[in-house]
Formats: sequence, structure tokens, C-alpha cells
Amino acid sequence: MTVRIEARSFGVRYRAAPALKDISLEVRSNEIFAIIGPAGGGKTTFLRSLNRINDLVPERSIEGALLFDGIDLYRVPVDIPELRRRLGMVFAVPVPLPGSIYDNIALGPRLRGGGRRADLDAVVERTLRAATLWDEVKDRLSLSALRLSGGQQQRLCLARTLALDPDVLLLDEPCSGLDPISTAKIEEALTELKARVTVVLVTNNVMQASRISDRTAFFLQGELVEVSETRRLFTNPSDRRTLEYISGRFG
Ligand SMILES: Nc1ncnc2c1ncn2[C@@H]1O[C@H](COP(=O)(O)OP(=O)(O)O)[C@@H](O)[C@H]1O
Ligand SMILES: [Mg+2]
Repeated sequence: MTVRIEARSFGVRYRAAPALKDISLEVRSNEIFAIIGPAGGGKTTFLRSLNRINDLVPERSIEGALLFDGIDLYRVPVDIPELRRRLGMVFAVPVPLPGSIYDNIALGPRLRGGGRRADLDAVVERTLRAATLWDEVKDRLSLSALRLSGGQQQRLCLARTLALDPDVLLLDEPCSGLDPISTAKIEEALTELKARVTVVLVTNNVMQASRISDRTAFFLQGELVEVSETRRLFTNPSDRRTLEYISGRFG
């Protein structure tokens, strides 16, 4: 068991207001690590701190440390585009580019210089299969991505992220707008993918966390209330607030 991500008393403030306070946790290689909790708890802030997308926010300050593969992301000079490739992100709302299904996936590898047609074809097939979308689109790869359903678009966005060969997938409520069938397909994809990548899944759906994650963290108002093995957190939480949240009494 290797530790992939480690937060050590990590905190984030926007202007003076704390969004995350004193977070200490580890994410292990090849697990699905779920983060649950009500809106405003700092879940997105945590994900965006990991690939340093949050650098774009002015007047944001950091406390403590956040490590990826042992590298202290806010103390050591980091190659930011490479960091964002290695920690690939999928957002709540799918945002395909207005090109074909094929080009949505091939764009990233092309920009990295992997432009041979046969190689690209292989990447497109491999990533669409991994995202459980291949069977639905294999005969119409030149169709505009915008013609796909919302659930298909989200799986395309997952495939596009996978085409850059990430080590970690950061997913921010990826199924929040999706129907149950698309949600099930994404859950199936993530369960398969964890053999190759580490998954950090922010979800507003506690049942999703209980179905597919190995460990779960509960964030409340910027604090880490509890982190433990998912089965344990859902059957025998150690904090009363966790029990209240998972049984639907708030949030
Ligand atoms: N760019 C930002 N500028 C200022 N405050 C922000 C910004 N992003 C988030 N916040 C604040 O930080 C807190 C945590 O937000 P967020 O990380 O989005 O939580 P969650 O994803 O759990 O809903 C909230 O109080 C939110 O208003
Ligand atoms: Mg959020």
C-alpha cells in the first residue's frame, strides 16, 4: 500500500475566510477515496488544491502541506501542466469541445506530440472502452460530441482525461446531473479503472460513496470530521455528525 496523496494540517483561506482547516489524511494508490459532505464544506477546494487549479484564485492562502508522491506541492517548484496531466480532473458539468467524439479525445495526445493516426485510434478506443462508452459510439466517432446525451458527454470527458494517462483522477460530483443508468456506467468504469489509477471522488450522493469507494472522508464546514474505511464509516461512524449526515438528517 503506497501513499499517493497526503495532507498534513492542510488549510486554505479565501481572503481571510477559512475554506479548509487542519486537514490531515492520506489517499492510497489504487483506491477509490470518496469525499462526502454538505455544500460549502471545502470538497471542491481540496480537489482544486491538489492539481493547483486554485492558484488562479487571487488572495488565496495555504497552510500546512499537501504532498503528491512525496512532493510538497506548495513548497517545491512544480511543473504545473505536468501536475494537471498527472492529476486529471472531471467536473460536475460535462464540457465537451465542439468537435467530433474522436477529436475530443485525440486533442490532448496530439498536443503532446503523439499524432500518429494508428496510435491515436488505439488511444480513442482504449479510453472510450475504459469510460464504458465505446459500444455506444464506435460506429459514429465523427459525430459532434455535442450531440451526445449528458451521460454520454460525461463519459466522453472521462475518456478525454484518461487519454493523458493520469495517475490520479479527481472527480467533482461527476454524476450530479446524470440519470441512474449513466451513473451506474460511470461507477462501473471507476471500479475497473482503480486497477490503474487512484481515484478521488467528491460526491453529493452518499449512496454512491458507499457503493464504490474503499475509504470515505466526511468534510463539514471546512473540517475533516472523520475518515475511515467506507464500510465502517457507513455502519459504525465514530462521530455523531457523520451519522446525522449519512442518515440524511442534514445537508
Ligand atoms: N474562489 C473562491 N473565492 C472565495 N471563496 C470561495 C471560492 N471558492 C470557494 N469558496 C468558499 O469556500 C468554501 C468552501 O467551498 P467549496 O470548496 O466549493 O465547498 P464544496 O465543494 O464542499 O461545496 C465556501 O464557503 C465557499 O463559499
Ligand atoms: Mg463543490
